[in-house]
Amino acid sequence: MSTRKFILVPVFIATASVALAQSDTAKRTVAALPETLEATGERAPQPVPTSSAEDISDLAPENLRFGIGRPATEEQIAAIDIDVMPDGRGYPEGSGTYAEGEELYLQECSSCHGENLEGVADLGAPRLIGGRGSLASDAPVKTVESYWPYASTLFDYVHRAMPMQAPGSLSNDQVYAISAYILGRAGITSDNPDTTLDKQSMTEVEMPNADGFVPDPRDGSPEK
Ligand code: HEC
Repeated sequence: MSTRKFILVPVFIATASVALAQSDTAKRTVAALPETLEATGERAPQPVPTSSAEDISDLAPENLRFGIGRPATEEQIAAIDIDVMPDGRGYPEGSGTYAEGEELYLQECSSCHGENLEGVADLGAPRLIGGRGSLASDAPVKTVESYWPYASTLFDYVHRAMPMQAPGSLSNDQVYAISAYILGRAGITSDNPDTTLDKQSMTEVEMPNADGFVPDPRDGSPEK
């Protein structure tokens, strides 16, 4: 009798530790179900992961290198450094005429902005000309002609972002030509088919709303 008791105790311990081990495994391998938000049934936001860095030296720049990659070359930087400023900085070499611009506009732009640059509301493509003098009215019409203070923005934007389905596909000459056409149709530069725009003449263009903006007087300090 006493021998049986003696045997039962170790058997019990063995069973208990198997059960414990199993529940331990269950804890380790089954991920908790994400909580759902009652209102929408969407997954609740996950906690923000925390850094594995243990002290500040783990975050030193020399520790943050992956050891891959190399600095961009000057050529690679030049390829994306295409911004053009109102004072003429950044305009590329090249030129284009109103006549060339008209042809290009009809091929590349009119499907969205309309044959008369009037815009196509259904496509979300804004009208590009007109609206001069309307900005202070109850129904302001903001266009390149009425609103934009600098011609450089037109060059920069078209070069960078248009046509919408193929941004960056136009050559410098083509962008000068299209600028000549849009500014010509807006009555800002001449609509003579031979009118040619280039770096110099674009910088000299005066936009009707150039005085409609004031420089930001804040200097960026927290007090202002
Ligand atoms: C596939 C349609 C599509 C084509 C093609 C297209 N555009 Fe656009 N364009 C848009 C849309 C949409 C916007 C508005 C984008 C926005 O507000 O973010 C826009 C905006 C513009 C603007 C800014 C107007 C403003 O007042 O904000 C200019 C300038 C412009 N396009 C010129 C052109 C020129 C030039 C071409 C041809 C080379 C062209 N677009 C071709 C759809 C198009």
